[in-house]
Amino acid sequence: MDADRFLRELPRLFDDFPQSEHPRDRRFARIVSDVENLAKENNFALLNLAASCLDDGETYVEVGVFHGASLVAAMLGNEHRRFVGVDSFEFRDATLDVVERNLTAFGLPRPELLVGDVFELVPAGALNDARVGVWYYDALHTYEAQLEGLRIAEACLAPGALLIVDDTDWEQVERAMDDYVAEQPRARRILTVDGKDRGNPQWWEGMQVLRWEG
Ligand SMILES: C[S@@+](CC[C@H](N)C(=O)[O-])C[C@H]1O[C@@H](n2cnc3c(N)ncnc32)[C@H](O)[C@@H]1O
Repeated sequence: MDADRFLRELPRLFDDFPQSEHPRDRRFARIVSDVENLAKENNFALLNLAASCLDDGETYVEVGVFHGASLVAAMLGNEHRRFVGVDSFEFRDATLDVVERNLTAFGLPRPELLVGDVFELVPAGALNDARVGVWYYDALHTYEAQLEGLRIAEACLAPGALLIVDDTDWEQVERAMDDYVAEQPRARRILTVDGKDRGNPQWWEGMQVLRWEG
């Protein structure tokens, strides 16, 4: 994972990072309008860039697929990479069928989709064959789940991997991120983008990115 490239190129996606209402590339607007989601174009542009910075042989993992919007965003233009989505599909009306239809509507190949509880699947070895270059966690955001949602990734992370977390404006998510960085010397925070609670609604509820020091 080329984390330096990620940090260098992120501001270039916008006229005025992080203030811009949307990225220069408007491909993600159609995802926002056509697929039920919990994000903004800006979040999608960040994820897409992260996927484009994967090294050969690395995998992008998304925990919390819902209707597939953020997975579609990450995959656009990066179809040659390996993507894995994990979801228990117990939230609102999300189903595997809906995700597959949305991927098809955007002309994307089917990624690997693991259906079940990430806290059972991953410790049981569901990703043991993967060198994970991006771990995007957008599932349950309680304090305990957020911490555990980072810890369970550790065994499969590639050197330099990005751990990306959504909804970091939330008090318990921010606290979990702080505590994780404090307990894990191999994780270094490289980016914090405020969201709507802190005056930046164009970034949904905020995002943080950690780099896994290999
Ligand atoms: C906020 S939604 C994801 C939104 C999506 N990333 C997007 O941008 O459109 C959270 C998803 O996490 C899933 N989820 C929550 N806890 C989970 C768990 N323990 N294992 C797997 N999936 C989980 C829910 O089923 C839900 O679809």
